Amino acid sequence: MYFGVDYYPEHWPCERWPVDADMMKEAGFNTVRLAEFAWAKLEPDEGAYDFSWLDKAIQILTEKGLGIVLGTPTAAAPKWLMNKYPDMYPQNSCGRKLGFGLRRHYCFNNENYQEYTKKIVSEMARHYKSHNGIIAWQIDNEFGGRCYCSSCHKAFIRWLKGRYGNIENLNNAWGTVFWSQTYKDWNDVIIPLSYFGEESQLFHNPSLLLDYYRFSSESAVAYQKIQADIIRENSNLPITHNLMGHFSEIDYFNLGKGIDFVSWDNYPNTQWGKSSYKEVSMAHDLMRGVKNRNFWVMEQQSGPCGWLTMGDTPEPGQLRLWTYQSVSHGADGIVYFRWRPCVFGREQYWHGILDHDGIGRRRYDEIKKTGAELMSLKDLLFGAEVAADAAVIKSYDNVWSHHIFPNNKEFDYNKLLMSYYNSLLDNNINADVTCAEADFSKYKLVLMPAYGIMSEGLRVKCEKFVSNGGSLLITFRSGIRDLNNCMTTKTLPGEFRELAGVELYEFDSLNNGRKVNVNGYFWNGTSRMWCDVIVPYSAEVLAEYTGSFYAGKPAVTVNSYGLGKVYYVGCDLDENAMKSLIGFVAKEAGIKPVIEHKVEGVEVVKRIKNGKSYLMILNHNNMPIKMLIDWAYKEDVLKGEHIKGEINLDAYGVAILV
Ligand code: GLA
Ligand code: ZN
Repeated sequence: MYFGVDYYPEHWPCERWPVDADMMKEAGFNTVRLAEFAWAKLEPDEGAYDFSWLDKAIQILTEKGLGIVLGTPTAAAPKWLMNKYPDMYPQNSCGRKLGFGLRRHYCFNNENYQEYTKKIVSEMARHYKSHNGIIAWQIDNEFGGRCYCSSCHKAFIRWLKGRYGNIENLNNAWGTVFWSQTYKDWNDVIIPLSYFGEESQLFHNPSLLLDYYRFSSESAVAYQKIQADIIRENSNLPITHNLMGHFSEIDYFNLGKGIDFVSWDNYPNTQWGKSSYKEVSMAHDLMRGVKNRNFWVMEQQSGPCGWLTMGDTPEPGQLRLWTYQSVSHGADGIVYFRWRPCVFGREQYWHGILDHDGIGRRRYDEIKKTGAELMSLKDLLFGAEVAADAAVIKSYDNVWSHHIFPNNKEFDYNKLLMSYYNSLLDNNINADVTCAEADFSKYKLVLMPAYGIMSEGLRVKCEKFVSNGGSLLITFRSGIRDLNNCMTTKTLPGEFRELAGVELYEFDSLNNGRKVNVNGYFWNGTSRMWCDVIVPYSAEVLAEYTGSFYAGKPAVTVNSYGLGKVYYVGCDLDENAMKSLIGFVAKEAGIKPVIEHKVEGVEVVKRIKNGKSYLMILNHNNMPIKMLIDWAYKEDVLKGEHIKGEINLDAYGVAILV
């Protein structure tokens, strides 16, 4: 189990470092992440590298048994470099160049930036390659941001040439006959700038837009590879990058292919909002799904957070609860952000484990206690798998396509996925959140809500999965488009038509507060966004509309296909109806909830280690609860107590049952 903290020795006098190292050891830490923003201190002038201060910090920390995750510092380029090549600054879609003063102020496609990246990363990798205190590398920090500069324009055209071969193919794929957009020459091809306000970007050709979003994502992936290749020439240590959970401008499934393990930054409650525990769970499950492997949390919130104002201070028990939540979903490493809050700079209010005066109080004590617990249970926790019979499939192509065409003002692809994920959770069903390339055969139920961009290959994969007995759930706006983001001419739901055994006769996008009631044979619900009018030709009807001119027409159907079933949900549904529907679908698919009893706000994760399963129970409520437990579970290993059919959990309490 990796247990540690993000530390910025460069922000503190070196006399303090040994004190910090002692306090870290005392807290039970074995890991520290360093240096990911320290370029200006590592190369104060061009070519004048100075690793002496970092060497010293590393020496002090490693002497205390702390392993180092070393960050490459490219997320914050020094001013001398930016002065020399101002074209390295990224440009937004409105044509505005960014300036100095924040971070991530560079363009992935700028060749000079790539060269200077190679230099600093090579120096660092060479300098530390035989240091046995280093345990892993982190590349850059939280990749993100789309750039619209001239370097990107050139790189985009190169990328398009690789994709389409000749300009006719591009014209055909993009349908440039529309509005006389035909390109005669590669150099004519534009990038989607916003001509009047940021939103006007979306008025561009939707195929151009989708390709630009793909290209932007692949620019980050390619930039990451530049660094990974250099590190790998020098070191066999694992490489990671810290991802951002639900952030969707980069295809994390592709980004993940270039690193050895995924890590991510988890802040449940900050100035910018409080995530529900389900949102956090889904982010964890997605981060696990990136490589279908366990991951780390590289920045786990450890105090009240914000840049200008602060989110709520974590209450007693919450840091421990969040830590266990991360572990339960597959975190084999927990690294808290940050050790001690800064006294200067924009993040003075981003609190960490200590306070500004360098003293550890309630938060330090809670983390220390949590660490001791985790270490005593590491054989059970480290490397355990989540037992998931269901998978929610996310596709970044579909994120972007639905962003370009939201279908309805209320429609949001990520939220739709979340509503399905939440209804699984509400039924005590664990899920993976992963990509369509994942192995479906290990699941009983695969949910592909609003999988709009569909390919023949994926249809064949779905057919095989269902024929062999799997259950597949699809929804409205499934199978509507081809890979170029153009509408299919196939009768909807396009590639899914035969699988679902239905055809759409028409559909209705609901606006201005209109609602349509839906009557299921065991539940009633309401649609507020979208209603497909379904004509089943081999499917059975599970629910029908009771309002609008299509009252009496099917809203939800199920089709038997081979040994399996395909559910078509033609409308959005309220939370209760979703919960009932998913409970029914899961049961039909042969999925047993991980625990029968459900208590609101209590999450149950079933994990497997060495063939044995156990439960992690997380009380996200700010009050104690009592919960009925399957008699098969005999002991709460956290409390060291025998249990007989029920447990009591404190507010924000956790139990681990074997
Ligand atoms: C991100 C970054 C950190 C820090 C926090 C707080 O997660 O990775 O460096 O800036 O946000 O803003
Ligand atoms: Zn650029």
